[in-house]
Amino acid sequence: MDEVAFLLRPRRGGWVIDGTVGMGGHAEAMLAWSGEDVSLLGLDVDPEAITRAQARLAPFGDRVTLARASFAELGAVAAAHGVTAARTVLLDLGISSVQLEASGRGFSFQSDEPLDMRLDPARPDTAADLLNGLLEAELARILHEHGEEPHARRIARAIVRRRPLRTTGDLVAAVRSGVPRAAWPRHRHVATRTFQAVRMAVNDEPGALRQVLQAAPALLTPGGRLGVISFHSGEDRMVKQTFRALASEGYAELEPSPLSPGDDEVRANPRARSAKLRVLERLT
Ligand SMILES: C[S@@+](CC[C@H](N)C(=O)[O-])C[C@H]1O[C@@H](n2cnc3c(N)ncnc32)[C@H](O)[C@@H]1O
Repeated sequence: MDEVAFLLRPRRGGWVIDGTVGMGGHAEAMLAWSGEDVSLLGLDVDPEAITRAQARLAPFGDRVTLARASFAELGAVAAAHGVTAARTVLLDLGISSVQLEASGRGFSFQSDEPLDMRLDPARPDTAADLLNGLLEAELARILHEHGEEPHARRIARAIVRRRPLRTTGDLVAAVRSGVPRAAWPRHRHVATRTFQAVRMAVNDEPGALRQVLQAAPALLTPGGRLGVISFHSGEDRMVKQTFRALASEGYAELEPSPLSPGDDEVRANPRARSAKLRVLERLT
């Protein structure tokens, strides 16, 4: 949080775009650390997140504009709100703790909930639709590519065998039955990677990231910065490759390797442990 606010708060007036405003924590910090001449446009696909961010950011009054929209449409959404250039763009990928623990939409393997996993309730397909409808080979591909799950094929086979799956409990049971007990990981739940992979597929998270990485750099003013926090090596790879490719086009990555949270932050918020922050600056 401190690194984000310190590195990304604008040095002069203008717009901050928070593409994943969530509970408004980063947005609040960036607004508090910058002058009155800085305004913030916050996006989120989840209407409940927008409601929470609205309440938290209310003290900043008309410095804040919130929009229920995907960062995949960043350029068009910004333009629709009169924002043609930004001093800062932040993307804090994935889901928030509240969505994980209390949304009732089946993001967590800790409680038994319907297999929904849509961040945007208007998306057509739920997790149950994908898990019950896709071919086994396609399920294995998703688990392998989005979850880097070493037992992707076995789990895909178990899912197909146990269809129809209706709840997160059904999915956990399928994963457990697909992976031999001796191969269960010691330091994380056996279903962690499966849940992550299915959520990423339901919400087309890699597709949205690919789109925003094309649009966001061009929105920056000279000296402006794009920060991306990812929690998954595939996402970090995509960010790294995009930033490297932009080096010959008037942009530079602040540090060659990503920043990670310090020990204190991990102790206070263990879910931050796999976070990686990369920052790109527009030079010209
Ligand atoms: C890790 S949370 C962000 C937390 C936020 N930085 C804060 O301080 O509270 C990620 C947020 O991004 C949202 N999100 C995920 N994909 C999105 C997309 N394509 N467009 C907009 N928001 C998205 C999720 O709904 C979630 O609220």
